[in-house]
Amino acid sequence: MNVFEQYESNVRSYIRSFPATFVRAKGDKMWDDQGKEYIDFFAGAGALNYGHNDDGMKKAVIEYMQGDGILHSLDMGTEAKAKFLQRFQDVILKPRKMDYKMMFPGPTGTNTVESALKLARKVTGRAKVVSFTRAFHGMTLGALAITGNAFKRKGAGVSLNETIFMPYDGYTGNGINSADLLEQMLNDDGSGMDKPAAVILEVIQGEGGINACSMEWLKRIREICTEHGIIMIVDDVQAGCGRSGTFFSFEPAGIVPDMICMSKSLGGMGLPFAMTLVKPEYDKFGPGEHNGTFRGNNLAFIAAAEAMRFWENDDLAQRVQHNAAVIKERLGRIRDRFPQFAAKVKGRGFMQGLELTVAKEKGEEICAEAFKNGLILETAGPDDEVVKLLPPLILTDESLAKGLDIMEEAFAAVAERMEKSAA
Ligand SMILES: Cc1ncc(COP(=O)(O)O)c(C=O)c1O
Repeated sequence: MNVFEQYESNVRSYIRSFPATFVRAKGDKMWDDQGKEYIDFFAGAGALNYGHNDDGMKKAVIEYMQGDGILHSLDMGTEAKAKFLQRFQDVILKPRKMDYKMMFPGPTGTNTVESALKLARKVTGRAKVVSFTRAFHGMTLGALAITGNAFKRKGAGVSLNETIFMPYDGYTGNGINSADLLEQMLNDDGSGMDKPAAVILEVIQGEGGINACSMEWLKRIREICTEHGIIMIVDDVQAGCGRSGTFFSFEPAGIVPDMICMSKSLGGMGLPFAMTLVKPEYDKFGPGEHNGTFRGNNLAFIAAAEAMRFWENDDLAQRVQHNAAVIKERLGRIRDRFPQFAAKVKGRGFMQGLELTVAKEKGEEICAEAFKNGLILETAGPDDEVVKLLPPLILTDESLAKGLDIMEEAFAAVAERMEKSAA
């Protein structure tokens, strides 16, 4: 029995999908203690958009530490925080003409979601929140209440209240537009729907199975929220920071959410960090009303400020958009080569996947096979039926090609085993 099995809690999970002890990582690759190299198509579940150990961020963080820079400071003023606030304004918000207050909750994705929910409830005086089928927003009780996954919800051990689940775009698959349905229910005094404080959504659902909504649907949701005085919250924890091909996932729709939840790659190199962007008119928490010891992680401020260099021009975004097309094309070929999985190509940007609509249980086997051959690849969806690609945005052409080859070989190996066992 190894040290993990002996001492670590049963709750550990990714270590089961990727049974290795990792010792080093750089760019789009990781190495284990046996010296085996892996291409990383998982990128810390979207926390490593800029890859592992980016030289610029590493240098900035090391210099800061060597200069005895402040590491912990609650939400006091630090040079590191000032630098990040300014850089984010100058590089991200101002060029997009976006006007938001920047709130720092605790350092995780679920913390930013909790802060947005609480604030939306405070400013509207209403309790209910509309969330969507297959949504994933985090593990603390408020975020779990708006998360669809039954297994995760059961883990709460208490009732999860105040959520109205509506079908996500495309969920019903029969042409029903769930934005129209939402509007109809809001306008109907007999629908039983209490007016919600907020509508919260992911523009590309990650954990829920790589479901991307259309920009038309997103615009309709924005309009409906505006008409009814409902706060629109976009959870960009996983789809943000360039993963969709633009810095924010909703940019192609030209909408302005009332609140935006950010974490994961915001910390630049995997450092814990979260931020809630709030339209100034909703910035209504009193001082310390939403508190926390680890709000604003100074090392993450340093790395995050340095990460802004990727957004000073269009190079990275264009690279992502170009390689996203390469991925889409290849996934289409894999789908066609293996009809036994009746797979569907899903998602956009560097957040795509193949949903197995037949032999769904083979998703995990495909990822295990890929791992044996040096590719870190995960599943998503309620039945782990989506083989999902979440590579770092800085992925080289060589790693992209090699990773896709390994993925296709994994499909081939599993398909062959299925044929043999059926014969
Ligand atoms: C969209 C979304 N929101 C929130 C979270 C929760 O983030 P964290 O695990 O950092 O709490 C996740 C995590 O995967 C996520 O994908």
